[in-house]
Amino acid sequence: MTGEVARELAESELAEVLPGRWRHVQAVAAQAERLSAIPGVTGQVLVAAAWLHDIGYAPDLHDTGFHPIDGGRFLRKLGADDRLVCLVAHHSCAVYEARVRGLEDVLLAEFPQEASVTYDALVFCDLTTGPAGQAVTYMERVDEIRDLYGPDHEVAGALELSEADLSACCERTLARLDSQLM
Ligand SMILES: [Fe+2]
Repeated sequence: MTGEVARELAESELAEVLPGRWRHVQAVAAQAERLSAIPGVTGQVLVAAAWLHDIGYAPDLHDTGFHPIDGGRFLRKLGADDRLVCLVAHHSCAVYEARVRGLEDVLLAEFPQEASVTYDALVFCDLTTGPAGQAVTYMERVDEIRDLYGPDHEVAGALELSEADLSACCERTLARLDSQLM
């Protein structure tokens, strides 16, 4: 799926019903465009995944109630490329929140997990973009999520589990960006 098709699909599902989410998604996609030039990144897949990563928040896609799985299932039904589908289903270390929600087996059974330069870059794009699309550092973003949900919420519990992996994805991407500039 091209970035343009992915953009149109995301816009049709999110722009009207979830305008804040749509602003975030547009900024994540812009960040993905910038990171497409990192050696080893599959640019077209990264950009399409950035446009589609949060599509599972669209109310009419509601299935399990966990947006990475709901987005992945929706895209698979549409016949999207399997790599793209799985990147969406696993974006930002979704496996940890799936575990907290009792959905880890479902996620892993339906969507193989990819470890790659492209995956790392997608995590970086999402975590360096705030809820209204503003640029943030990933550490600011992690703190903000923790503050937003409070310590007892399942998202905060998942963050506790995923923080080391999220940081590692972001650090590797930062190092690749640095070596690109040298
Ligand atoms: Fe996101």
